[in-house]
Amino acid sequence: MAKDKSLFTCNECGGTSPKWLGKCPSCAAWNTLVESVAAPDSGVRNRFASLAGTAQVAVLADIEASDVDRTPTGHAELDRVLGGGIVQGGVVLIGGDPGIGKSTLLLQALDSLQRAGKNTLYVTGEESGAQVALRSRRLGLEASQVRVLAEIQLEKILGALGSQQPDVAVIDSIQTVYSDQLSSAPGSVAQVRECAAHLTRAAKSAGVCVVLVGHVTKEGALAGPRVLEHMVDTVLYFEGDTHSQFRLVRAIKNRFGAVNEIGVFAMTEKGLKGVSNPSAIFLSQHAEPVPGSCVMVTLEGTRPLLVEIQALVDSGGPSPRRLSVGLDRDRLAMLLAVLHRHAGVACMDQDVFINAVGGVRIGEPAADLAVMLAISSSLRGKALPKGFIAFGEVGLAGEVRPAPRGQERLREAAKLGFTQAIVPKANAPKKPMEGMAVHAVERVEEALQIVRGWG
Ligand code: TYD
Ligand code: MG
Repeated sequence: MAKDKSLFTCNECGGTSPKWLGKCPSCAAWNTLVESVAAPDSGVRNRFASLAGTAQVAVLADIEASDVDRTPTGHAELDRVLGGGIVQGGVVLIGGDPGIGKSTLLLQALDSLQRAGKNTLYVTGEESGAQVALRSRRLGLEASQVRVLAEIQLEKILGALGSQQPDVAVIDSIQTVYSDQLSSAPGSVAQVRECAAHLTRAAKSAGVCVVLVGHVTKEGALAGPRVLEHMVDTVLYFEGDTHSQFRLVRAIKNRFGAVNEIGVFAMTEKGLKGVSNPSAIFLSQHAEPVPGSCVMVTLEGTRPLLVEIQALVDSGGPSPRRLSVGLDRDRLAMLLAVLHRHAGVACMDQDVFINAVGGVRIGEPAADLAVMLAISSSLRGKALPKGFIAFGEVGLAGEVRPAPRGQERLREAAKLGFTQAIVPKANAPKKPMEGMAVHAVERVEEALQIVRGWG
């Protein structure tokens, strides 16, 4: 029964084929066809007919711009990444490693929303109702009125959305949901994609906010296709390492708010608690400065965060390793080449490891200068001075480029007791800063020269 309705859709161009092919007949990409379901009666071309309605064309100036109506979840840090709260008909995808706290956060949020008078539904495919209840007790939510459905079959979940008419529904997780319209296994790309598409459609047509929980593969991508990210309105990722107490939730896509906004939480005995003043949590506590450590100020989203970058340079074998945790490895290779070429610091026969403390991921190039200084500090076995920070992007020509909102970064560091900084020239304050000695540089050589001068 399943087979005759099957259709294969290209992940790249959306082209279709009635049977599986290695190469897409429309765009000639390889291995992009995945199984999907044709709408039973309307045929391939009208798959989205139900969504179409009568098309109305309007002039942009005549369309009233209405701001979306947001409902705060009651958790300020979550609202920050959501852009103010949940939105009717909005679909949120929230990804993260197992055990990082996705189910915990969402259960807490649902409970607050329920208490604020919203109708909530928690669909659990991974745990039984009893396990969810156990967690809710742990969170101190004994009297929670959140409705729970332990179900993994798409059609039944859609049915429950129809009959319960929740304002917010959490599907934990999208990888466990399956539809028997498809012959491929639950958790396969085809199933995940198709089920997410159906849930998205249901959210839009019924005005429900649907939150899909997604697992992350070892490589850090949401398991299943990246197409999920295109389908939904908001994509949030959990960061942080499960051994530390702190968790970051980052918005990497948001149709209703800013991207790269970060929410910071601490995992406690009683669930996740927002950290409203997080700037100093990613510093490891050394009594005295140690070689290979350099603090930077990162500014992704609206709040500056001080993050310690650690480097270890150690003699390697014939093919030395370059490993990075929390920073881009290709960028590390590039920075090592720049260090060698423009500053005469050679790490050719050395293993180089770098790490951003606390499991935070830094995507912005403003980390470059701190990475370089940490590497040179480890190589020389000389610590950078106490209370020192650095930031700035480094180019292939050895130039140090400004980071956005440099003054703000410097001010935050000064506020936390840092007293010395090496920054790109364009980021240096016009007037001397109180309590902070700022060294402005234009090139990597200059930065390294200053540091060598300190011993
Ligand atoms: P969980 O929300 O189940 O993670 P996910 O859904 O992302 O897989 O989080 C589970 C972890 O959090 C687990 O290791 C136990 C811990 N935890 C606490 O420390 N305190 C708590 O109050 C709760 C509910 C969980
Ligand atoms: Mg879970």
